[in-house]
Amino acid sequence: MPKSATTGQQPVHLSVRERILQGSFYTPARYVQLVGEWLREHSLAKNCVVLDPSCGYGAFFALTDLFPQNLFIGNDIDQAAVSRVAADFPHVKFFCQNALCNVRRKMYGIAEDAKLIVVGNPPYNDTTSQYQGKLKQTTKPLMDADVKSRDLGLSSLLAYSKLKADYVAVLHPLAYLIKRANFKAAFPFFANYRLLHHVVFSSQEFAGTSKTAGFPVIVGFYERHPNHGLSYDDVRQMNFTTVEGKSFSLGQFRYVSEFVRKYPSRSCAPTDIMFYTLRDINALRRCRTFLAKPTTNAVQVTSEQLPYYCYIDCFKDYIDKVPYYLGNFDIPIDLKQFDRCRDAVVAVSQWKHPEVFGPHPKPPAKTFQIVKKLVLSTISKSF
Ligand SMILES: C[S@@+](CC[C@H](N)C(=O)[O-])C[C@H]1O[C@@H](n2cnc3c(N)ncnc32)[C@H](O)[C@@H]1O
Repeated sequence: MPKSATTGQQPVHLSVRERILQGSFYTPARYVQLVGEWLREHSLAKNCVVLDPSCGYGAFFALTDLFPQNLFIGNDIDQAAVSRVAADFPHVKFFCQNALCNVRRKMYGIAEDAKLIVVGNPPYNDTTSQYQGKLKQTTKPLMDADVKSRDLGLSSLLAYSKLKADYVAVLHPLAYLIKRANFKAAFPFFANYRLLHHVVFSSQEFAGTSKTAGFPVIVGFYERHPNHGLSYDDVRQMNFTTVEGKSFSLGQFRYVSEFVRKYPSRSCAPTDIMFYTLRDINALRRCRTFLAKPTTNAVQVTSEQLPYYCYIDCFKDYIDKVPYYLGNFDIPIDLKQFDRCRDAVVAVSQWKHPEVFGPHPKPPAKTFQIVKKLVLSTISKSF
């Protein structure tokens, strides 16, 4: 097997900056094998066209040995990657095109009636890194209007649907499914595809990614069902399984975002107490909570909402206990327990933030215990 097919190795011809701009983080071999098992299970071992529209060094062409009766096609916008992969896989047909521009089967020489399986790991944004976010501002890839989105990965899903792929076996951030705004942006894909198999793993498995901010990635096997795909309600009910054998679902929790505002609003009257914009658990890991001074990211806190924001502030103290696969969830809350612990969370937060609340005496150890139990028992519902 060619060397590039055996590991999720880093693209050695790119600088760190170029790797981030192109989203060039290659797939670990075990997920390629898993996709191979799914193809076999669904009798897709012959007479199919298998296309990787953003193939990098060709991690997915490890499947060519297993499925010699399928036709494999590779493409990447990166000419250096294509030259290298073409040398490794002389029996695969390659293109060097922008996979998001003039999208149609013809661009790869694929017949309209061919059974098409799209595989791969499209470029996507790790928006958890502010450093990476700054770099990405400089890129404006050309895209068809009907695949346009703010994220290359979401656009890639739209392109797969535009190609009318019969099956799609790809890695993508779990956030594409579970965050309502992403789901909506990629709805022309999700509305036409059902998820047959999947497994969730940490982005830290990709070589060369940040070791501090792992986010959940799903490798999913989707089947085309025009206009009978997934609704967001399906996603809420879905039981996700991780590579470590854990399972979890959006519907298993209530969320504190039901009771607080997450984003600043111009229509809100100014308040004395402010809180930093609230995105998800991974954002809370690196962001501040209560703010002493107004900023553009400040959310106004009303007195009714204060205990909930204090809960979030206390939740952050135990955030290292939250497993990576919940990283894109809102902050969960157990309302029954919370109601019994409101005073305790407020007392702890007020003591922690004299710059916001003025000086407060340190609460007794028992109060800290109550808060710890409240947060940890909520988090442990996901283990
Ligand atoms: C995450 S890597 C995946 C590589 C390979 N599919 C794998 O699984 O290892 C994403 C690849 O997408 C390529 N890419 C980025 N934008 C692209 C575009 N608009 N069209 C085609 N390829 C693109 C990058 O050059 C990079 O090789």
